[in-house]
Amino acid sequence: MVNDPVHGGRILVTGAAGMLGSQLLLDAPGDCMSVGTDLNAAPDGSPLVELVGVDLCDAGAVGELFTKERFTGVIHAAAYTAVDLAEEQAELARRVNALAPQLVAAACAKAGIPMVLISTDFVFDGQKGARYVEDDPTGPLSVYGATKLEGEQLALAAHPTGVTVARTQWLYGPRGRHFPGTMLGLAADRDQLKVVDDQRGIPTSTLELSPAVWDLLERGERGAIYHAACEGMGSWCDFAKATFELAGLDPERVQPCATDEFPRPARRPADSVLDCSRLTALRGQPMLPWKEALARFFALHLASR
Ligand SMILES: NC(=O)c1ccc[n+]([C@@H]2O[C@H](COP(=O)([O-])OP(=O)(O)OC[C@H]3O[C@@H](n4cnc5c(N)ncnc54)[C@H](OP(=O)(O)O)[C@@H]3O)[C@@H](O)[C@H]2O)c1
Repeated sequence: MVNDPVHGGRILVTGAAGMLGSQLLLDAPGDCMSVGTDLNAAPDGSPLVELVGVDLCDAGAVGELFTKERFTGVIHAAAYTAVDLAEEQAELARRVNALAPQLVAAACAKAGIPMVLISTDFVFDGQKGARYVEDDPTGPLSVYGATKLEGEQLALAAHPTGVTVARTQWLYGPRGRHFPGTMLGLAADRDQLKVVDDQRGIPTSTLELSPAVWDLLERGERGAIYHAACEGMGSWCDFAKATFELAGLDPERVQPCATDEFPRPARRPADSVLDCSRLTALRGQPMLPWKEALARFFALHLASR
């Protein structure tokens, strides 16, 4: 296995048109070449440079990708992320979230290169009553969570000395639809807004997560799991109120409500706050507190709305 796959290397970022993958591509260190793939190639004129379309569930296509290119490392951010729809598309979710990571990990093992696999807090049932550490027992409540967990297990088994799993939670970022943008859109239409207050997690900006993922590819322990989220914790209601405050809106317009008031097909963990001490020890510092990260995201991407 190469010592430092990143600097001077050639890195494959999958899911590169997605919320996290697009940020990973933007944050690639200057002395590394990064190649982004997604299900579809970037259309002409797209700001996503070098976005190659590859279906990662297709063993032949994955084999061809790794034959054509000599990668030095992979960040696998591609996933089936429609949490509710996954309840009725379990087979597709399993192919994308479990079998594709296995294929990519096996290709990395063959090439002798490391891979960071992005995973989720939804592998837990949210009943622990304290922050989750990496070795805590899992217990997914949804098809999405179960398929992501299987993906972790299959990838680690396919490449035990090369795969590093990064579990994160409550992501938002500049690309695609995001929670703060949805809240501000609703604020324009309604005086009062009800937002769930009985689920706890950590809102995590892709602007903060992406550099941490690059660090994990460069020097994370192989065959290990890391939790990666911003500092602190909160509810969706807290997240909405913080967004309102940053936008100069009255946070009292956001009213707390219970999960039961908005029934969804997939069950979510009630309290899946991640303990990120292992990542903090590796990087020598924690990620930003989530409210500071939200303020930074807001200043860079929402202030002009
Ligand atoms: N968003 C969150 O709150 C959150 C929280 C915890 C963990 N995560 C994890 O973080 C990672 C990134 O999430 P994200 O929110 O950035 O996801 P995203 O925006 O949905 O992006 C995922 C990308 O993967 C692509 N993809 C789907 N099936 C594929 C296939 N068969 N072959 C190749 N590419 C395929 C999707 O393409 P199409 O759009 O064309 O289908 C999409 O562009 C995922 O592993 C996710 O499970 C996300």
